[in-house]
Amino acid sequence: MYIQLYSIHGLLRAKDPELGRNADTGGQVKYTLELAQALAKEPAIRKVDLFTRLIEDKTLSPLYSQPAEQLSEKCRIIRIRCGGKKYIRKELLWPHLDEYIDRVLGFIKKENDIPDMIHGHYADAGYVGKELAALLGTPFIFTGHSLGRFKQQKLLQNGMRQEEIEAQYHIARRVGVEEECLAAADLVIASTHQEEEEQYGAYESRERARFEIIPPGVDLARFFPFYDESLSEIGDPAERDKIRQAQFYIQKELERFLGQADKPLILALSRPDQNKNIAGLVQAYGMDKELQAIANLAVFAGLRKDITDKDENERQVLTELLLLMDKYDLYGRLAIPKKHNVEYEVPELYRTVARANGVFVNPAFNENFGMTLIEAAASGLPIVATNDGGPRDIISNCRNGILIDPHDPQQISTEVKKILIDPELWKRLSEAGVRNVRRFYTWKAHCSRYLRQLQRIRLPIQASPQQQPGKTGKHLARINKLFITDIDNTLIGDDPSLEELIHTLGKQRRQMAFGVATGRDLNSVLALIGSTAIPHPEIIICSVGTEIYYGADLLADKSWRTHIAHRWDRERIRQVLTTVDSLIPQGEEAQKEFKLSYTIDNPDENTPRIHHCLTEQGLRYNLIVSNRKFVDVLPARASKGKAIRYLHRKWNIPLARILVAGDSGNDEEMLRGEMLAVVVGNHSPELEKLRGLRHIYFSRATHAAGILDGCAHYHFFDAPEVEREVS
Ligand code: GLC
Ligand code: MG
Repeated sequence: MYIQLYSIHGLLRAKDPELGRNADTGGQVKYTLELAQALAKEPAIRKVDLFTRLIEDKTLSPLYSQPAEQLSEKCRIIRIRCGGKKYIRKELLWPHLDEYIDRVLGFIKKENDIPDMIHGHYADAGYVGKELAALLGTPFIFTGHSLGRFKQQKLLQNGMRQEEIEAQYHIARRVGVEEECLAAADLVIASTHQEEEEQYGAYESRERARFEIIPPGVDLARFFPFYDESLSEIGDPAERDKIRQAQFYIQKELERFLGQADKPLILALSRPDQNKNIAGLVQAYGMDKELQAIANLAVFAGLRKDITDKDENERQVLTELLLLMDKYDLYGRLAIPKKHNVEYEVPELYRTVARANGVFVNPAFNENFGMTLIEAAASGLPIVATNDGGPRDIISNCRNGILIDPHDPQQISTEVKKILIDPELWKRLSEAGVRNVRRFYTWKAHCSRYLRQLQRIRLPIQASPQQQPGKTGKHLARINKLFITDIDNTLIGDDPSLEELIHTLGKQRRQMAFGVATGRDLNSVLALIGSTAIPHPEIIICSVGTEIYYGADLLADKSWRTHIAHRWDRERIRQVLTTVDSLIPQGEEAQKEFKLSYTIDNPDENTPRIHHCLTEQGLRYNLIVSNRKFVDVLPARASKGKAIRYLHRKWNIPLARILVAGDSGNDEEMLRGEMLAVVVGNHSPELEKLRGLRHIYFSRATHAAGILDGCAHYHFFDAPEVEREVS
């Protein structure tokens, strides 16, 4: 099996991941990295690619601009560009995700390898995964990681207004996509039962979704207790050296802040996020002199150089931390290091704290899972954690700590003290954590359950090859030749030659895709196909190029709609055109979201006036006259020709391998340029101007006979798949 994982936002790299570098780079990055590598170790899996966004930003490491990073023999990170080069926070990625999808299709085609399973992480990658899965007919797994409705609720409770939330987080879009992901997913993976109940419970599509609760694992090669190194899998002396260096760094770093660095430590480690409630812990510590006498506090709240460069939320969290340090006069007792590396220093940090019988605290207001908790546990560090989903499960399985109410500073300090002053209790919790994490939270166990689920969701699809959804997408991701014809007066009009053409096309279908591009709307295309022997097209471009559908399941190309919607003001255009006397609107059925259609007399004389009225108002549009009587006004980005060029890019089919045939004005754009164009003998006069241009063949034969003649002219059907075979 070939599995594609998607995790698009944040900063993702395997070499020294910068967890906590910003608000979008946290537990999910770690989760997906470890999942990818753990899955790749399974013999049933041939390849795992973890897709993220390619970022070329001078302020960031050049590693993020590498298109591929090999993690192990069967596992890579693949980076795909979208929305330009700069880093963008996750809430602003939405408009760029369709571009992402199209580029992934190009990648898949280039690699000539279609995935057996697509797994999207978080709403943004959920969207991408869901769309790709639909196009390719691949099963789709969704993991939300955290959900929009829940976040919105919390923000409202904290006094933020709905409009602010929307402006800052684009929460409506996120929630909408989450609903769609739940409805579309073959499987939803959650980490805890509470997550399923409380987080997903707020979604309408929850009932339809199939859930599997699989907690993440911990990387046991890195996280082991200081008192039993036999539990580590590290044999390599170079690795040991790095661990020693990390230990040294941590020591030095803590000494920089702390007056008495040999005291036990209370440790917190998280992204600088309001929800993580670091301030709550500092307050608890600041208010309790006794606790200060017993132990120091160390807060690792992400990586920073200059707090003023951080975005607003992070800046607030970090500033508050500094203010609290000052308020409670915690100088010499509170360490707030600016950086730490994730590969060696974080595991060593847990061990350092454990060596001096310290405690790990996670005071977050909500904790869906809490990867740090199982890492601390695996390292033999007792935990005090918020009484919520993840911690509740972890502590009840591992018996390695105490739950607290994050809103109650006094309770936090009391419970922390309890462990600090009782060596018996400390030891019991430490050992229980080490033992039970290895029982409940390994990636190996995660992967076996994951794979069992994969087998189940794959079965029904293999059972009925006829009914395969997404068959067309798979086909398009493989072929290199596309035949597209207009319908009226081109494909139809001469039955005997149509029959011959159908027969010829039938023989080509394995290596070629067949499409139509027409002014008709979808219903009328389907009605026509239903009443003739014309095979169901793999691509239907209809309503003069404003809509694209794939295959028998008529899957709409949503990213084409997004693309052409740009600066389309349908209502104003319609109003302006009511003032043009020469235009008579066609029937209601001809008016579409992206198409306004009219009839006109004397187009040569009358169209300049239409252009004048529209441009005077600053409107953007594409006006097309066909058969000297039809006028279509479309978005500036739409036409049959533009739709085909879009398909060429999306599915990576060379223009020189696309044959197009037409007869009238709305075909003009697709006939011009690099594609192999055929104009049938019965064409309308408006195409005369194309005569003599490169790659435009004017046939003397009419209708389908003209198409056949054109195909022969270009030797379109006789060239075998030479290129593919050579490559
Ligand atoms: C088809 C459509 C019509 C359009 C014409 C030219 O006949 O039904 O609305 O104006 O093609 O594109
Ligand atoms: Mg036509």
